[in-house]
Amino acid sequence: MRVVIVKDYEQMSRTAALLIAKQLRSKPSSVLGFATGSTPLGTYKELIRMHRREGLDFSHARTFNLDEYFRLDPSHPQSYHTFMFENLFNKINVNPDRISIPDGMTEDVENFCADYERRIKQAGGLDLQLLGIGRDGHVGFNEPGSSLGSRTRLKTLAEETVRDNARFFKDKKEVPRLAITMGVGTILEARQLVMLASGEGKADAVKRSIEGPVTAQVTASALQLHPSVTVVADEGAASLLMHRRYYVYVEKMAEKYEADVGI
Ligand code: PGA
Repeated sequence: MRVVIVKDYEQMSRTAALLIAKQLRSKPSSVLGFATGSTPLGTYKELIRMHRREGLDFSHARTFNLDEYFRLDPSHPQSYHTFMFENLFNKINVNPDRISIPDGMTEDVENFCADYERRIKQAGGLDLQLLGIGRDGHVGFNEPGSSLGSRTRLKTLAEETVRDNARFFKDKKEVPRLAITMGVGTILEARQLVMLASGEGKADAVKRSIEGPVTAQVTASALQLHPSVTVVADEGAASLLMHRRYYVYVEKMAEKYEADVGI
C-alpha cells in the first residue's frame, strides 16, 4: 500500500488526477471507476483542466460509478447521476453510452445489481477505482458490518452517513436512507485502487483503515488486502497515522529511485 501524504486538498486532487491520467494515457480504453461526494470534486476539476489544456482523452474509456441513492430520480439535483454529469461527464469527451451509474429507480434490484456486476466483467474489469472514505470508514456505501466479500447490492445507510449527506439536501426529509453500492468484493477486484481523504474529520477513519485490523466494521480496511492501492491523504486526514514519517520517507525514496518502492 502506498500512502501519499500531501499538504492540502489541492495537492490531493492534483495527485489523484495525475494517477487517473497516467492510467488513461497508458490504456486509452481504460475502465474507470468513479466516486461521488465532496472529496473527489477537486480531482474532477483537475481532470477537466487536463482534458481542456492537455488533451487528456476520455473518448475510448468506460466508466462505472460506485453507488447511487435508492429511489432518488436521476434528475434530482442530489442524485449521483446529476453530480457526475455536472461535475465531470458534461465537461470531458467521455461517450455517454459508455457511462454506467447504478439505477436507483430500478424495479428489480436483485437483477439490476447482478447485471451491473456482469457489465463490469464484460468491460474487462475495472482498471482503476477511485474511492472516498466515510467517517465511519466506509468505501462506496459499504457501511460497518458489510461483508468483505459483498457484491453490488442495496444497502441501508448508517445514521452517521445519513447525517453527513443531509448537508446537501434542502429538505432533510428527502435524504435517502438506502443506496445501491458496489460491494467490497467488487471494489477489491479493480486492478488499482486510489482512495482519497481530506481533513481532520477523516483522520480517525483513515487511521483505522490503514493501520487497524482488517475488519468488516471498517470496510476501507479491506484495502489492506489489495496489491495495488494508493491512499492520498492531506495533512489533516493523515494526522493520526502512527507511521506517518515512514510513509513520507517511502515517497522520498520512490522519487530518488524513480520506482514504486511503497507498494
Ligand atoms: P465525502 O464522502 O467525500 O463527501 O466526505 C465520502 C464518503 O462518504 O465516501
